[in-house]
Amino acid sequence: MSAPHVLVFDSGVGGLSIAACLRARLPGVRLSYLADTAGFPYGDQPEATVIRRCVELVERLMTDVPVDLIVVACNTASTVVLPALRGRLGIPVVGVVPAIKPAAALTQNGRLGVLATPATVRRPYTDDLILRFAAHCEVTRVGHPGLVRWAENKVTGEPVPLESLHEAVKPLGDAGVDTVVLGCTHYPLIREELAQVLPNVHHWVDSGEAIARRVAFLLEEASMDTDGVLDEGEVGLAARFSGPAPAALDAFLPRLGLQPGPVWDQWPGHSETS
Ligand code: DGL
Repeated sequence: MSAPHVLVFDSGVGGLSIAACLRARLPGVRLSYLADTAGFPYGDQPEATVIRRCVELVERLMTDVPVDLIVVACNTASTVVLPALRGRLGIPVVGVVPAIKPAAALTQNGRLGVLATPATVRRPYTDDLILRFAAHCEVTRVGHPGLVRWAENKVTGEPVPLESLHEAVKPLGDAGVDTVVLGCTHYPLIREELAQVLPNVHHWVDSGEAIARRVAFLLEEASMDTDGVLDEGEVGLAARFSGPAPAALDAFLPRLGLQPGPVWDQWPGHSETS
């Protein structure tokens, strides 16, 4: 039986934080990565654009690469695109949504921060999660466009500008939150810097491990062999980018427990979906 193949999709490098959790939990699973770098950032774009780009790119990739399961490793896309993808693809599609439920169970002072892209913080999906799971908390939302860019730049070797980051997340410090939901997959990549500028936060809650558990469950439920040992050529992350591949990203991957795979480049002819 060949190893299951999972596709991880994001607008940029954020989904790598999810790929890292998948690799750690499922070392016997092949991983491909698809980033819509030509459409980045999704956090400022209309819903219809995000849905169209995401569906087109995933469908095109699947004509080249047969995968068994897709992870939409982007909160911004997941809040709008899952029904469209699930309606068109005959394989499981796992989405990522802000981890408000576990965070609401962790806070001790009842003050919760939700840090996400400008689109995610204002989506009805997020309102609904807060209403269902954090109605007993005082919730402060911050949607700042800078954070995804600082995370993208960090993986290319540029330090995160701490003063600007401090300014961006100040409402969370002012509100005295003890728990922060990292509601964008880019943010675990700058968690160290966030902890520096918000030293009173005790819990940083992201969705990576929950997604890895869910994927493991679905693959096992479909009787796929997740316990095999991958060949050397299959261990790396095969990555495709609709625009340019972020510079020096391959050098950053080992910090996440990942390694570059055999396909590592811009995907010719695929940036025209804009
Ligand atoms: N990584 C994406 C998320 O989880 C957002 C990045 C973007 O704005 O494109 O929401």
